Amino acid sequence: MKTQRVLTGITTSGTPHLGNYVGAIRPTVRASRLAEVESFYFLADYHALIKVGEPARVQRSTLEIAATWLACGLDPERVTFYRQSDIPEIPELTWLLTCVTGKGVLNRAHAYKASVDKNTAAGVDADAGVTAGLFMYPVLMGADILMFNAHQVPVGRDQIQHIEMARDMASSFNHLYGEHFTLPEAVIEEHVATLPGLDGRKMSKSYDNTIPLFTPREQLKKLILGIVTDSRKPGEAKSTEGSALFQLYQAFATPEETAALARAFAEGIAWGDAKLAVFERLDQEIAPMREVYDRLIQDPARIEATLQAGARKARAIATPFTARLREAVGLRRLDSAASPASNTKTARTQAPSFKQYREKDGLFYFKLMDAAGQLLLQSEGFESPRQAAQAIARLQQSGVAALSEIQPRWAVQADAATLTAALSHFQSPPP
Ligand code: TRP
Repeated sequence: MKTQRVLTGITTSGTPHLGNYVGAIRPTVRASRLAEVESFYFLADYHALIKVGEPARVQRSTLEIAATWLACGLDPERVTFYRQSDIPEIPELTWLLTCVTGKGVLNRAHAYKASVDKNTAAGVDADAGVTAGLFMYPVLMGADILMFNAHQVPVGRDQIQHIEMARDMASSFNHLYGEHFTLPEAVIEEHVATLPGLDGRKMSKSYDNTIPLFTPREQLKKLILGIVTDSRKPGEAKSTEGSALFQLYQAFATPEETAALARAFAEGIAWGDAKLAVFERLDQEIAPMREVYDRLIQDPARIEATLQAGARKARAIATPFTARLREAVGLRRLDSAASPASNTKTARTQAPSFKQYREKDGLFYFKLMDAAGQLLLQSEGFESPRQAAQAIARLQQSGVAALSEIQPRWAVQADAATLTAALSHFQSPPP
């Protein structure tokens, strides 16, 4: 098997908190140490511009997130660690992908739809206050991923739809211009708990209940002492279930340590003592990293140099790949004649096409795509490739009339007019 390429980015719009660390940074740094993966980690600062209108904050957040990643053990020699805006090929690819992405697909993106729903509920114009940047967010993200042909993209659940969209962009592009992109898959860390924040709800910037990862030791203590608990007195048994304090501890402690704290809860440990225990356990893991972080943050030039080196590594891939993509779509020098191969490609993309394939269930399927790569017809499974091929032949000869005669039937079926138009290509190919 080819080395798996893993890629993920963090938007540079804030200060990393414990939830980011436990949910994203710690698992990805660990995964980057595995021998069989090639990892790409980047600071998504173009994405930050969609949410943040303060230049100084974007810069500060970029510094903090870069320093955090390095302090948490990311090894820039081993992985490709870069800043999105150092790779001009990414906005270029964003445009190429924009041209193969259905506007209707973007209309359905969760973040955009949430804004529209909010506006609609408020009785104002559906797009009030919505930038085209927010609308295009998934395409920029698709470019991040497809540029490096990542196989796996570790993300939170809220990002799954974006990865699916990137897959769609990749297949549409591949269908039109040849096989250039790997279809990425989202990787969701099932066992990583979402961390509760100070108020017991999910730790999140939008709830303003976060604990910054590298806040000074005394401040960390103060914040943990402020976590909400119930009003049980010392000596009264306490429930671990639903306890934000307990969940926080569990995210850092070994199973044995966690079991010991659970016993202490049952035996009626005072909340104040429990909080101190949680604080000390967290600080034990964080303190050595905090020391590195504080040193790094004082030395932005060093981080800048690291990012520049990362950009060179990333561009060693992105620059030649973009040249290939430009060639594929026809952005070519005029003194280089179009190659015969690309002529064939053009001919193929102007017509609808049938594709036959086998699924995991062992059955044989086919589908019909239109010239733009849109799915028009998808069969149910046939027992043999021959049966599938015969069905295709009948559709090509008789058009939609053959639809009702073919067994098994259809999983996807476009409207009759669209199908008739597409199938007519096979009966009398245009001159
Ligand atoms: N949208 C991601 C987030 O907010 C950040 C991101 C940008 C990203 N580009 C990406 C994540 C590419 C994975 C791959 O969490």
